[in-house]
Amino acid sequence: MWEELIRRAIAQLDYAYAPYSEFKVGAALLCRDGRIFTGCNIENSAYGPSNCAERTAIFKAVSEGFRDFKAIAIVGGKHGKIEDYCAPCGVCRQVMAEFCHPEEFQIIMAKSPEDYQVCTLGELLPKAFSPKILEVEQG
Ligand code: THU
Repeated sequence: MWEELIRRAIAQLDYAYAPYSEFKVGAALLCRDGRIFTGCNIENSAYGPSNCAERTAIFKAVSEGFRDFKAIAIVGGKHGKIEDYCAPCGVCRQVMAEFCHPEEFQIIMAKSPEDYQVCTLGELLPKAFSPKILEVEQG
Protein backbone atom coordinates (compact mmCIF):
# COMPACT_ATOMS: atom_id res chain seq x y z
CA MET A 1 0.00 0.00 0.00
CA TRP A 2 2.83 2.41 0.84
CA GLU A 3 5.33 1.19 -1.75
CA GLU A 4 5.08 4.11 -4.16
CA LEU A 5 5.40 6.66 -1.35
CA ILE A 6 8.47 4.86 -0.01
CA ARG A 7 10.01 4.79 -3.50
CA ARG A 8 9.58 8.55 -3.72
CA ALA A 9 11.30 8.97 -0.33
CA ILE A 10 14.20 6.73 -1.42
CA ALA A 11 14.64 8.78 -4.60
CA GLN A 12 15.20 11.85 -2.41
CA LEU A 13 18.38 10.34 -0.95
CA ASP A 14 20.13 11.41 -4.16
CA TYR A 15 19.37 15.04 -3.37
CA ALA A 16 20.13 15.03 0.36
CA TYR A 17 22.79 17.57 1.25
CA ALA A 18 24.52 16.11 4.30
CA PRO A 19 28.28 16.78 4.11
CA TYR A 20 28.56 17.19 7.90
CA SER A 21 26.71 14.19 9.34
CA GLU A 22 26.90 12.16 6.11
CA PHE A 23 23.49 10.81 7.19
CA LYS A 24 21.11 11.22 4.25
CA VAL A 25 17.35 11.32 4.74
CA GLY A 26 14.50 11.29 2.24
CA ALA A 27 10.80 11.89 2.85
CA ALA A 28 7.62 11.76 0.80
CA LEU A 29 4.46 13.41 2.12
CA LEU A 30 1.07 12.23 0.85
CA CYS A 31 -1.82 14.70 0.79
CA ARG A 32 -5.40 13.47 1.12
CA ASP A 33 -5.99 14.43 -2.53
CA GLY A 34 -3.21 12.06 -3.64
CA ARG A 35 -0.59 14.72 -4.31
CA ILE A 36 2.93 13.94 -3.07
CA PHE A 37 5.53 16.43 -1.83
CA THR A 38 9.07 15.17 -1.36
CA GLY A 39 11.96 16.41 0.76
CA CYS A 40 15.54 15.70 1.77
CA ASN A 41 17.72 16.92 4.61
CA ILE A 42 19.70 20.05 3.88
CA GLU A 43 22.60 20.72 6.23
CA ASN A 44 24.54 23.90 6.82
CA SER A 45 28.09 24.72 7.92
CA ALA A 46 26.62 26.60 10.88
CA TYR A 47 24.74 23.38 11.82
CA GLY A 48 21.70 25.16 13.35
CA PRO A 49 20.14 26.19 10.02
CA SER A 50 20.06 22.55 8.86
CA ASN A 51 16.64 21.23 7.88
CA CYS A 52 15.31 17.69 8.13
CA ALA A 53 13.80 15.86 5.16
CA GLU A 54 10.35 15.71 6.75
CA ARG A 55 10.21 19.44 7.36
CA THR A 56 11.48 20.15 3.87
CA ALA A 57 8.54 18.15 2.47
CA ILE A 58 5.98 19.67 4.86
CA PHE A 59 7.16 23.23 4.28
CA LYS A 60 7.16 22.71 0.52
CA ALA A 61 3.55 21.54 0.73
CA VAL A 62 2.35 24.31 3.04
CA SER A 63 4.08 26.93 0.92
CA GLU A 64 2.18 25.63 -2.11
CA GLY A 65 -1.18 25.82 -0.32
CA PHE A 66 -1.53 22.16 0.79
CA ARG A 67 -2.07 21.27 4.44
CA ASP A 68 -4.33 18.26 4.38
CA PHE A 69 -1.94 15.38 4.96
CA LYS A 70 -2.51 11.64 5.15
CA ALA A 71 0.95 10.07 5.57
CA ILE A 72 4.69 10.54 5.33
CA ALA A 73 7.31 7.97 4.33
CA ILE A 74 10.82 8.40 5.74
CA VAL A 75 14.09 6.66 4.86
CA GLY A 76 17.64 7.38 5.90
CA GLY A 77 21.11 6.09 6.49
CA LYS A 78 24.80 6.92 6.63
CA HIS A 79 25.98 7.86 3.11
CA GLY A 80 22.43 7.19 1.93
CA LYS A 81 22.67 3.46 2.64
CA ILE A 82 19.48 2.37 4.41
CA GLU A 83 20.28 -0.08 7.19
CA ASP A 84 17.54 0.60 9.71
CA TYR A 85 14.16 2.31 10.12
CA CYS A 86 14.57 6.10 10.37
CA ALA A 87 12.29 7.72 12.95
CA PRO A 88 11.40 11.41 12.68
CA CYS A 89 13.17 13.73 15.12
CA GLY A 90 11.26 15.55 17.86
CA VAL A 91 11.19 18.85 16.00
CA CYS A 92 9.66 17.20 12.92
CA ARG A 93 7.06 15.44 15.11
CA GLN A 94 6.11 18.82 16.52
CA VAL A 95 5.79 20.32 13.02
CA MET A 96 3.58 17.36 12.04
CA ALA A 97 1.42 18.05 15.12
CA GLU A 98 0.72 21.53 13.74
CA PHE A 99 -0.99 20.19 10.63
CA CYS A 100 -1.78 16.51 11.10
CA HIS A 101 -4.42 14.55 12.98
CA PRO A 102 -2.74 12.51 15.76
CA GLU A 103 -4.81 9.35 15.22
CA GLU A 104 -5.09 9.55 11.42
CA PHE A 105 -1.70 10.70 10.18
CA GLN A 106 0.48 7.70 9.31
CA ILE A 107 4.26 7.75 9.65
CA ILE A 108 5.96 5.10 7.54
CA MET A 109 9.55 4.32 8.51
CA ALA A 110 11.02 2.17 5.78
CA LYS A 111 14.04 0.04 5.05
CA SER A 112 12.76 -0.71 1.54
CA PRO A 113 9.45 -0.47 -0.36
CA GLU A 114 8.51 -3.87 1.10
CA ASP A 115 9.97 -3.56 4.60
CA TYR A 116 8.52 -0.81 6.75
CA GLN A 117 6.93 0.08 10.09
CA VAL A 118 3.83 2.26 10.40
CA CYS A 119 2.88 4.41 13.42
CA THR A 120 0.39 7.16 13.93
CA LEU A 121 1.61 10.62 14.88
CA GLY A 122 -0.14 10.18 18.25
CA GLU A 123 1.94 7.10 18.96
CA LEU A 124 5.19 8.96 18.28
CA LEU A 125 4.15 12.21 19.95
CA PRO A 126 1.57 11.54 22.67
CA LYS A 127 -0.02 14.44 24.53
CA ALA A 128 1.29 16.87 21.91
CA PHE A 129 1.29 20.62 22.30
CA SER A 130 -0.87 21.54 19.32
CA PRO A 131 -2.89 24.47 17.96
CA LYS A 132 -5.93 23.13 19.87
CA ILE A 133 -4.28 24.04 23.17
CA LEU A 134 -4.01 27.66 22.09
CA GLU A 135 -7.54 27.56 20.66
CA VAL A 136 -6.18 29.08 17.48
CA GLU A 137 -8.07 29.01 14.17
CA GLN A 138 -5.64 27.68 11.56
CA GLY A 139 -7.24 29.73 8.78
N1 THU B 1 17.44 14.10 9.96
C1 THU B 1 16.34 14.19 9.17
O1 THU B 1 16.40 14.67 8.04
N2 THU B 1 15.18 13.74 9.67
C2 THU B 1 15.03 13.22 10.92
O2 THU B 1 13.92 13.10 11.41
C3 THU B 1 16.23 12.80 11.66
C4 THU B 1 17.45 13.59 11.31
C5 THU B 1 18.72 14.61 9.43
C6 THU B 1 19.22 15.84 10.13
C7 THU B 1 20.68 15.78 9.85
O3 THU B 1 20.90 16.37 8.57
C8 THU B 1 20.98 14.29 9.75
O4 THU B 1 19.73 13.65 9.59
C9 THU B 1 21.68 13.73 10.98
O5 THU B 1 21.01 14.07 12.13
